[in-house]
Amino acid sequence: MCGIVGYTGSQDCMPILLRGLGSLAYRGYDSAGVAISDGREIAVVKERGKLKNLEDTLAQRPLVGTAGIGHTRWATHGEPNAVNAHPHVDQNRKLALVHNGIIENYRPLKERLMQEGCAFVSETDTEVVAQLIGSLYQGDPKQAIVEAMRQIKGSFALAILFRDDPGTVYCVCDGSPMVVGSGRTGSFAASDIPALLPYTRKVTFLEKRQMAILRPDGISFYDRDGNPITKTVTRVEWDVEAAKKGNFEHFMLKEIHEQPNALINTIRQYVSERTGFLRESIFPWSTEEAGKLKRIRIVSCGSAYHAGLLGKKFFEHLAKLPTEVEVASEYRYSDALFEPGEPMMLISQSGETADTIAAMRMAKERGQQTVAVCNVIGSTIARECDRTLFTYAGPEIAVAATKSYVTQVAVLYLTALDLAYRRGCMTEQAVRDCLEALHTVPEKMRRVLERQEQVQAYANRHVTARKMFFIGRGLDHALCLEGALKLKEIAYIHTDAYAAGELKHGTIALIEDGSLVVSVATQRDLLPKMASNMEEVRVRGADILAVTNGTGGLGEHCSEQWDFPTVPDMLAPFLAIVPLQLLAYYMGVARGCSIDQPRNLAKSVTVE
Ligand code: F6R
Repeated sequence: MCGIVGYTGSQDCMPILLRGLGSLAYRGYDSAGVAISDGREIAVVKERGKLKNLEDTLAQRPLVGTAGIGHTRWATHGEPNAVNAHPHVDQNRKLALVHNGIIENYRPLKERLMQEGCAFVSETDTEVVAQLIGSLYQGDPKQAIVEAMRQIKGSFALAILFRDDPGTVYCVCDGSPMVVGSGRTGSFAASDIPALLPYTRKVTFLEKRQMAILRPDGISFYDRDGNPITKTVTRVEWDVEAAKKGNFEHFMLKEIHEQPNALINTIRQYVSERTGFLRESIFPWSTEEAGKLKRIRIVSCGSAYHAGLLGKKFFEHLAKLPTEVEVASEYRYSDALFEPGEPMMLISQSGETADTIAAMRMAKERGQQTVAVCNVIGSTIARECDRTLFTYAGPEIAVAATKSYVTQVAVLYLTALDLAYRRGCMTEQAVRDCLEALHTVPEKMRRVLERQEQVQAYANRHVTARKMFFIGRGLDHALCLEGALKLKEIAYIHTDAYAAGELKHGTIALIEDGSLVVSVATQRDLLPKMASNMEEVRVRGADILAVTNGTGGLGEHCSEQWDFPTVPDMLAPFLAIVPLQLLAYYMGVARGCSIDQPRNLAKSVTVE
């Protein structure tokens, strides 16, 4: 999704803005631009396409100044071209601004402004904000912004430069993230932490309709009416290296390899090293509350939804707690009923996914308790939910979710154990046995990762595949959905995941000579059933790859088998997902796809 950077200080700002935009490029974009104040005028340069185009133009025509804003745009209103790219200016060039989010009432605002004589040059909702603030500006930038915020509806993060106030960057947001921080050489703003990390680890997140005014010597904060407020500073624990590729060719591969450590870091937060047991205070429900729970509803999108499907299996199997899992974009427009006292769990890596946020706010309005599973401190979901169970995956830069998914699954598993214990479904010893097994997973995951060449060889052999089928039962079906999603988004291969027992109700008609089928068969009690389902497709010509949980034994039903170290069935998803992620990665590499920024995708989906 779009990225924002802003800087004011003692340094030439162009290299700082370009570096910041570079560190946000992972979010996906199709045009980029900067505005720099030289003390008298605001100069704007924007280009369609990758940052390199903008850099080339700026190399020909350098902009000089110590205060500026920059943007990478992922087109929503209006095609991706230089005119629609940000920054946008008002018609008198009194200000320039960059915007993330969507202005919902831009049409009536635009009509009114046009009647008042405003001439628009772009098709964007963002230009409406620039013209609106320009029309309200009477010499006091803060007041003009406060007044404009009263008139605009929707989600926004804005960074604004005013011609008459050179050296100052104004930032406001609502529903789209904005983070600011002061460093040795000035003040910095961005829509995401990686852009700030080269300069400071002490950051402040703006909340709903708050404003930050950045000057070279510090940052001041204001509420929606422009009254001064005090904000807390958060220290970012991960460093800039965590957001770099290191020796890996792509962030996605690096992040797949980081999964054992991400798991260790996450488990450590929920399981006390001293007692070896679940930390009492970290989980959302007391023993009394856990006992009263009748049902949980999990709402999320994409990979986080797939993690939720595993969560359902954990909650129902271990804690005997009925659990519903819904895709947020469906849930928010459905008539879903809820029981009094039914909590909603929202799972989100970014904490900024628009549909998940909408579901969360619906739950809050109805008085439901909201519990987040989230990777980003300071994100909207982490801030607004009643409780947040953090995942400790560190920054996930590649668009495809990998380590965030695995850590979400871990948090759900640990929460299920906590609930199972409190609800009297498991004894302390049974929980300890599960934890002991969980502790062995990161090391076993490393052993799976060591076999990546086998996955690569398979991918190279099947590089021309046009479609693939994933089949599995129980936990494996949820896993198949995630494996299939990875292949679609990274290798652009049409894949579908089926509950293996459903094949004969229609899908099997698609199986023909040479059809590629990935059979995930990690659940011991379901192996005989899986063997039959594999046989059904094998005899119809399918070429089957089986992913198994130390069980071997399915060799006669498949042409290739990846058998990973044995773990209890409930923990198999942690290991089985790794070869599926690697398969998508190596298929994507072999097919020359854009691995870290797949076409048409953005890292966090802040629009509906
Ligand atoms: C897939 C992927 C997406 C996200 C989804 C939810 O690899 O990354 O499907 O999982 O957009 O995003 P978050 O977790 O940020 O709410």
